[in-house]
Amino acid sequence: MYGDDIASVLISEEEIASKVDELAELVAKRYPADAPEGDLLLVGVLKGAIFFMTDLAKKLTVPTQMEFMAVSSYGSSTSSSGVVRIMKDLDKDIAGRNVLIVEDIIDSGLTLSWLLRNLSSRNPASLEVVTLLRKPDALRTQVDVMAVGFDIPNEFVVGYGLDYAERYRDLPYIGTLDPKVYGG
Ligand code: XMP
Ligand code: MG
Repeated sequence: MYGDDIASVLISEEEIASKVDELAELVAKRYPADAPEGDLLLVGVLKGAIFFMTDLAKKLTVPTQMEFMAVSSYGSSTSSSGVVRIMKDLDKDIAGRNVLIVEDIIDSGLTLSWLLRNLSSRNPASLEVVTLLRKPDALRTQVDVMAVGFDIPNEFVVGYGLDYAERYRDLPYIGTLDPKVYGG
């Protein structure tokens, strides 16, 4: 539906679904359903992580609550500026809670390391990260991640929540964007 903007399908809808099952199983094992800290708190990073977050939550066998945060580091460019701004903060206090950040993609890792520092200063009982995608650059940044769905090549990807200039989030798969779209 986007003409030839998508150069190739990198991860199909079916591959995403079975990975989400796998990650849900892994996550559920780490958090007891009757933890004294209460329900696991999923913190989704808007907007890219919403498809992953809702699919993951539906597959988790432990009760979860959901909060969202919006941070901005990119504008509509395709490389990280390292400058992170909170566009929307959490509605609730996370002190004493088991918090799991749900991310769409870790690229340079700058956004996530900033987010980890920010959220840990609010004294959660625990703070972990699950990300659907990770690019090779992230391996050079020191960010501890509990679970990763797919390590992907260093290409700009869209779909399943990921956008370029707010487009392509609605694709059910993850694809690479033809460089002509961003003038590459
Ligand atoms: P850093 O570099 O801070 O970036 O780890 C993380 C955020 O940048 C966005 N990002 C992408 N968005 N396709 C996208 O649609 C990509 O290939 C891509 N790489 C990074 C994303 O918002 C992520 O949270
Ligand atoms: Mg984004």
